[in-house]
Amino acid sequence: MKSGRLIWLVLAGLLGSITPARAEDGATLFAENCAACHGLDGHGQTPQGRKIHAKDLTRSQLTRGEIARQIREGSKVKTGKSVMQPFADKLSAAQIDLLVAHVLRLRK
Ligand code: HEC
Repeated sequence: MKSGRLIWLVLAGLLGSITPARAEDGATLFAENCAACHGLDGHGQTPQGRKIHAKDLTRSQLTRGEIARQIREGSKVKTGKSVMQPFADKLSAAQIDLLVAHVLRLRK
């Protein structure tokens, strides 16, 4: 009896710790990693976005593959200075997929 209960407690604990990661979606990832420059709406009209000329994502013509590459590799200006940092080390492929879908949804 006792050990059966323990198993349920452990399972419930595990589920509790897994669920928040699952609940993560493209919009949340975008708010956390991208909105400082691109703005929540994708227009890039934030103080930082204006300063570095962040692209207006609602008008972007990039394909899925190009968006994914932009997120993985970021952008550098001619001087070699990074204007959008690469996210390949920070985000998983699954998170990048969610972000690509979110970026496409910003277009109207
Ligand atoms: C530090 C500011 C900054 C952050 C943070 C940032 N970006 Fe960017 N992003 C830029 C700038 C600046 C450009 C324009 C770069 C250029 O002209 O090559 C850009 C360009 C892009 C483009 C290319 C658009 C086009 O049509 O060429 C995409 C897509 C993009 N960003 C998506 C994202 C996503 C998704 C995130 C979050 C994971 C993100 N960016 C985070 C600054 C940022």
